[in-house]
Amino acid sequence: MHLFHYFPLFAGLAAALPAANAPSSHLKQRQSAPQGVQVAEIAYSGSGCGAKSYPAQSLSDPTTISVPKTNFTAEAGKSQAQVVDTRTTCQILIKVNQPSGWQYSIAKADYYGRVHLPAGVTGISTTTYSFSGDTKKVSKAYYFDGPFDGLYYRNDRIVDTDRIWSACGSAASLNITAELRVAPLTGQSSTRPASIEIFAPLGGKVGISWRTCT
Ligand SMILES: *[C@@H]1O[C@H](CO)[C@@H](O)[C@H](O)[C@H]1NC(C)=O
Ligand SMILES: *[C@@H]1O[C@H](CO)[C@@H](O)[C@H](O)[C@H]1NC(C)=O
Repeated sequence: MHLFHYFPLFAGLAAALPAANAPSSHLKQRQSAPQGVQVAEIAYSGSGCGAKSYPAQSLSDPTTISVPKTNFTAEAGKSQAQVVDTRTTCQILIKVNQPSGWQYSIAKADYYGRVHLPAGVTGISTTTYSFSGDTKKVSKAYYFDGPFDGLYYRNDRIVDTDRIWSACGSAASLNITAELRVAPLTGQSSTRPASIEIFAPLGGKVGISWRTCT
């Protein structure tokens, strides 16, 4: 709790640094954010995580949204006849009440997961970020080639030039859609089916950045 009280102080000091020490304009951008931001609702849906919704929250840090953790898995069967879910998705819709005159963008999200892939099988973990009702998207894809058996970490960072921004004055939701795939589904002799799993998001936090509407 005390940390939050100190944070504005720190931000003030950082903003007072000489311009030569500021590494880029995006640092300044991240420090300017509206206060009193509220998340109206977080809703999950998709074959991987099922439909769930979570109540409103006020953001003590306007650049961090706490997202309930979830796990989901894509799994190939032991043989063609036993194919289960080779492609699963989990969509997270985050409705942010953006103060007028401000727009926001997804900046970062971290995930970790587990992969069990025999030789010849590939696992793909893709995350697509967008705003509902808007066709612009940013995607990050990670490929794992079997044989691979272990944990993986993926850290999505959206650089300034790739960012997509919420429309000014709109109530569109941030749409984070994670997809897992296992391919191909040739007959596997393994006693354990090929699988890729994601525990999302790591730490239950999604980073957003703000800018004033232009
Ligand atoms: C997700 O899976 C991990 C590892 O099996 C487990 O520790 C964690 O509790 C699970 N989380 C949820 C939300 O089911
Ligand atoms: C969320 O994004 C996914 C992937 O781009 C898309 O298939 C889905 O229709 C979107 N949902 C909404 C409500 O915008």
